[in-house]
Amino acid sequence: MTSHRKVSRAEHPTWLPKESSRNLGDKRVHIAATGPLVETVRSEFRRAMRLFGGSFVEKIGDAEIVVIVTGDQGPVGLDDETPAAVHEALAAHASEPVSAEGYFLANRDSVSVIVAATDRGALYGVLDLLRSGEPGSGTRREEPAHAIRMLDHWDNMTVHPVMGAVERGYSGDSIFFADGEVRRDLDRVSRYARLLASVGINRVAINNVNVHSTEARLLTDKLPDVARIADVLRPWGIRLHLSVNFASPTLLGGLASADPLLPAVHEWWRQATDRVYDSIPDFGGYVVKADSEGQPGPFTYGRTHAEGAEPLAVALAPHGGIVHWRAFVYDHRQDWRDRSTDRAKAAFDHFVPLDGKFADNVVVQVKHGPMDFQVREPVSTVIGALTKTTVAVEFQVTQEYTGQQKHVCYLGPAWSEILRFRFGGSDAAPLASLATGGFVAVSNVGTDEFWTGHPLAQSNLYAFGRLSWEPLADSIEILDEWIRATFPDTDDGTRAALHAVLDSSWATYEKYTAPLGVGFMVRPGHHYGPDVDGYEYTPWGTYHFADRDGVGVDRTQTTGTGFAGQYPSPWRARYESLAECPDELVLFFHHVPYDHVLHSGSSVIQHIYDTHADGVEDVARLQGIWAGPTQGIDSATHARVTQLLVEQLRSAGEWNDQIRTYFFRKSGLADAGGRPHF
Ligand code: GCU
Repeated sequence: MTSHRKVSRAEHPTWLPKESSRNLGDKRVHIAATGPLVETVRSEFRRAMRLFGGSFVEKIGDAEIVVIVTGDQGPVGLDDETPAAVHEALAAHASEPVSAEGYFLANRDSVSVIVAATDRGALYGVLDLLRSGEPGSGTRREEPAHAIRMLDHWDNMTVHPVMGAVERGYSGDSIFFADGEVRRDLDRVSRYARLLASVGINRVAINNVNVHSTEARLLTDKLPDVARIADVLRPWGIRLHLSVNFASPTLLGGLASADPLLPAVHEWWRQATDRVYDSIPDFGGYVVKADSEGQPGPFTYGRTHAEGAEPLAVALAPHGGIVHWRAFVYDHRQDWRDRSTDRAKAAFDHFVPLDGKFADNVVVQVKHGPMDFQVREPVSTVIGALTKTTVAVEFQVTQEYTGQQKHVCYLGPAWSEILRFRFGGSDAAPLASLATGGFVAVSNVGTDEFWTGHPLAQSNLYAFGRLSWEPLADSIEILDEWIRATFPDTDDGTRAALHAVLDSSWATYEKYTAPLGVGFMVRPGHHYGPDVDGYEYTPWGTYHFADRDGVGVDRTQTTGTGFAGQYPSPWRARYESLAECPDELVLFFHHVPYDHVLHSGSSVIQHIYDTHADGVEDVARLQGIWAGPTQGIDSATHARVTQLLVEQLRSAGEWNDQIRTYFFRKSGLADAGGRPHF
């Protein structure tokens, strides 16, 4: 990859292209609101007015756009000239007020009105109008399902010898850091914050969860620079968080121990945290990866994770800060010969016994699946089982295991399936409502001129924001919003082409990679491309157990690791039973013979042969669509996607050949389709 030391200022499309300001432009605007974020609201209108004309007006009756914050002012002076839309929105708010971040968007007689309880709600309302354009007539009510909507950056301050500038980053360097320092020029951070605010993201953790010694210092001597980043995020309603090293008291404070039960350790965290708030009064809190993949943690001192989180939580509480404590805890040095240890079970075993024991301001941050952001996994059992703990669900927008932003893979449908999962069966609440601590995702942006390496990977960032605001929204409608906003000049045909490329790209990716929920089969280390046995005899706990008779992991209670038993009914029985287990997860839960017949009617081996060939054909079809008419897509975007589709087709072909050949050699069973293996 080319070096991205310099931050690109190139104007490639985002979902807020310059043209979007037209949605706010050439209008008479009346703002009846106070609060720090109102200045940002005004700046959005000023930007629009510079480009497309328009003006601020004193009298509400003269306005075509009205912004009202009800919370901090007396009754709005309504009179005969007040537009009907204002009356409507205020009446709607009076009868059922929106929450702090919500807003009403009303439109009638060519007047648009935003009514919110706070300046933050007003900002979201204005950015909604900016992003989506003229609202249809009537009154629309918007408010987020959960208060925390967060992106985690896995950014390093110095280029890590193995992981680079951004761990699992595929979009150039960090937008925050370069050469061991916080960047002097934070203009791109500001533009990023605007994009994030427009989809409702309100918190950002700026550094890698693997906190190396350089990054640990962000908490102490680098604070003035961290404060500069917070200053840039603040006008967009975004609070800054830091990933911290559990061993900071020893690493930075010179203490002999980081034992969370020691008073000196509590005192160290208290003082360090007070200093953070002196520099950053609205600091969000800490993200901690402890006892995970070599990071230090409370196990060193024989303490639990609830005990481990305590000193940090106590230090943050008086300031309104929170601890995001990650549940990604498992034995990454397991013996592959040991068939009873199951990485999928680990987070549940460590965290469910601690339910109710975490401090109130601790959010346990749980990856959406029990393994690690695979293209297909069942949902994490931890999310359903922690009923007395605040839980955040963690997604991965950066495409570590889903094509690394070289492959087009729109993840909205995958996340929707997870968010709609019902632990207690069809009558129970969806998983989305169990995320009492909201949603967190690993970001996918960097210094790349298109922000995300693959221009179409911006859709994933957009979709995560929108789903974290409205978790049960339709992911294909969200994609449609993204397409219209990003490429406003496209015609129906081009928009249909973009849908054809993106809508089922996740399904396509799944077809040509690890089959039927078994996961991994990627090159160890960088995780790009196929390597069926790459992890099979390693300590990482990610196995498929293919032999001459069959493939898959027996996670049943009867004969396997027992993981299926971590689910409540009806899933426990459904996953336990080979007859009832959904096809797409059959190899996650069962070790089956190659001739086992799926619900689809196909045998496992024939399914593997067919779907892999199909997946490659799908990619070839996408290439054809992309080569067709694409009016309204700029040439740079078009060229980058064209170039990446060549790589995607090559890589899909490589997956197909390796998987097909591997399973033919293992099973000796020929492909009924007569396609070649090697
Ligand atoms: C994955 C990923 C790591 C990351 C880890 C985590 O294992 O490969 O790079 O550090 O997840 O989520 O902590």
